[in-house]
Amino acid sequence: MSFSVFSLIKSLIILQMYLQSFSSATKNNILFIFVDDLRHLSDETINLPNIKKLAGEGVNFKNAFAQQALCAPSRNSILTGRRPDSLRLYDFYNYWRDSVGNFTTLPQFFKENGYETYSIGKVFHPGRSSNFTDDYPYSWSEYPFHPPTEKYKDAAVCYDKETKKFQKNLVCPVNVKYQPGQTLPDLESLEHAINFLSNRNSSQPFLLAVGFYKPHIPIKFPEHYLEKIPINKVKPQRHPYMSAEIPLVSWHPWTDVRRRDDIARLNISFPLGLMPYDWSIKIRQSYYAAASYVDDLVGELMSYVDTRKTIVVFTSDHGWSLGENGLWAKYSNFDAALKVPLIFSAPGIPSKNIHTPVEMLRSHVDKNNMN
Ligand SMILES: *[C@@H]1O[C@H](CO)[C@@H](O)[C@H](O)[C@H]1NC(C)=O
Ligand SMILES: *[C@@H]1O[C@H](CO)[C@@H](O)[C@H](O)[C@H]1NC(C)=O
Ligand SMILES: *[C@@H]1O[C@H](CO)[C@@H](O)[C@H](O)[C@H]1NC(C)=O
Ligand SMILES: *[C@@H]1O[C@H](CO)[C@@H](O)[C@H](O)[C@H]1NC(C)=O
Repeated sequence: MSFSVFSLIKSLIILQMYLQSFSSATKNNILFIFVDDLRHLSDETINLPNIKKLAGEGVNFKNAFAQQALCAPSRNSILTGRRPDSLRLYDFYNYWRDSVGNFTTLPQFFKENGYETYSIGKVFHPGRSSNFTDDYPYSWSEYPFHPPTEKYKDAAVCYDKETKKFQKNLVCPVNVKYQPGQTLPDLESLEHAINFLSNRNSSQPFLLAVGFYKPHIPIKFPEHYLEKIPINKVKPQRHPYMSAEIPLVSWHPWTDVRRRDDIARLNISFPLGLMPYDWSIKIRQSYYAAASYVDDLVGELMSYVDTRKTIVVFTSDHGWSLGENGLWAKYSNFDAALKVPLIFSAPGIPSKNIHTPVEMLRSHVDKNNMN
């Protein structure tokens, strides 16, 4: 059995009501960590100790799939608890309240039930699909925080050793000191979230959503993370070619990757040309390094969380193909692009590897009935 992340809204609400009915009158806080384009990495060589720790302490879903491998529709689906085909939103260009229906979102539900709700970084997809406000004021108690340096997300800030110029590269390890503002967007979001958790001065429970931007392309991260992923340890992708038996419509020519300066220089033939082997390894190394960077951000954030009264949910909007089937992209319906990490860690819920939310609740009921 597989389970779609859009059931998240229902699971979280049921879980919260359930915990309340058992434990005490006080409501738990909720921390929702949402990562951009982080595929399900458990079967890879890379070690993500902080995410693994969270998974070890909570319920770790081994078979969770996003509804669609594209940011806005996947996020709209998760946050409204509706499938893209119910919302009829498959792209970035419509806001559900104006074009489909005035649906309640996950944070809005909590906001209307005694919680203060906050958004930091990329939670709703910004822009038209959330009315240029991240659905404020409906979903959030305060205007969402966006890290100021996110405006340089596609800027020519990647130093290229071959051309000796700053370029718009795909593979973009950086010296943070030489970046605009001497920081990176996710570092700013982390700092903002830590300030929030450290200085919170209200007795009302909160839902804090923190959306990290990496490992989404360009794969930009502090360069020292490359040392954690030695290139000679990086394995090539399995199934590196598109099978002749699958229809072309299941594929995508990864145009957003091809147009980055470092990749454009390779003159890969369009649309079916393959990524050269050495670049396949280089991209995989950088994606893992960026995932490792995000893992450290998660660890740092978690060190400020009072886990005795916080439900932590960790997931990603969808995955990303690292060369499988000749794809370097989200967009497709292959597992690499759709399968995501999904972890619920809640006080009083025993840790478990599990496949469906029903199993999770059932195990809790059994435990409490026995006591
Ligand atoms: C949409 O829902 C919000 C929150 O429940 C409500 O305040 C608003 O009036 C609704 N808008 C419309 C057009 O029904
Ligand atoms: C979306 O934004 C537009 C422009 O600011 C505004 O007129 C409209 O009422 C907003 N939609 C909702 C549902 O708030
Ligand atoms: C927290 O609230 C108390 C009492 O209202 C106040 O004295 C204190 O300055 C507040 N602290 C912060 C950091 O806002
Ligand atoms: C790519 O094409 C350009 C222009 O034709 C050429 O100058 C360059 O050497 C080519 N690069 C590679 C890696 O083949």
